[in-house]
Amino acid sequence: MTSRVSVTIDQMSDVGSTANSLISLDRDQRAVVELDPEHPGFRDMEYRERRNQIAQIAMEYIPGEAVPDAPYVDAEHNVWKTVWEAIDPVHEKHACQAYLDAKAALDLPKDHLPQLNEVSAKLQKLSGFRLEPAAGLVEPGVFLAALAEGTFMSTQYIRHPSAPLYTPEPDVVHEIIGHAVTLANPDFAELNRLVGQAALRCKTSEELDRLGRIYWYTIEFGVLREKGEVKAYGAGLLSSAGELEQMPEAEIRPFNLEEMEALDFDVTVYQPVLFCADSQEDIFRHIRPRILRFGESSSHSV
Ligand SMILES: [Fe+2]
Repeated sequence: MTSRVSVTIDQMSDVGSTANSLISLDRDQRAVVELDPEHPGFRDMEYRERRNQIAQIAMEYIPGEAVPDAPYVDAEHNVWKTVWEAIDPVHEKHACQAYLDAKAALDLPKDHLPQLNEVSAKLQKLSGFRLEPAAGLVEPGVFLAALAEGTFMSTQYIRHPSAPLYTPEPDVVHEIIGHAVTLANPDFAELNRLVGQAALRCKTSEELDRLGRIYWYTIEFGVLREKGEVKAYGAGLLSSAGELEQMPEAEIRPFNLEEMEALDFDVTVYQPVLFCADSQEDIFRHIRPRILRFGESSSHSV
């Protein structure tokens, strides 16, 4: 008999997600990741066992300690390599300069998948942010509030090797190539902290939903104008060659927090609407005053 302990994984960064994984405990209190039958790894028992081991690492993790290494195999290191081969040229076309600079500063290995601990150590030197493993359940309020402390709660598993450019759930490719690289830029790290501070101020679930949508349209799918061109700074765009290539097809709207807060999104499709800031400074000019007003009331004007 199993008992369900967790519900969803990183709901705030469900890039292309159609199904979230469930985690249960078996009779020995070991984590069991329940993949959806449509998941590319559903019939691969070795992959599923690694997913269980990785979930166990997070469940036993003590905050502040080094993150234990995940048991990645060669096929998974090859996934990482394949992703970089596909995404590097697309970054050159569509990523903002701050992201390209942060990518150079973080200097990730591209021939093998780095462990969270290695990435976290480099990140801490660049912006003070650290990565901590998330087993499964990360409620939006908890996930966002951790950002205020400079902690990014990260998945540690990688997508199934049979589909290296597709994931039905956020994985370590998304967390590292999307979030860790952007967090290596001190300004984007500050943006994450500000959203985290707002989460701490939220008094209602309605306010938290509004903040979740700001997170979505900035930290996950934000774009800004650079020398007249629209460039990505959102982790959901920057961690997916497919999302980046579709970016020019999206409707680009002016950066407007009130509109973002009210606009629902669908995690299962390429994002049809993106909000474009005039510059990095422009994002902060809008967000800073709004952050202070979270917790005051559930309505506001911008
Ligand atoms: Fe994300």
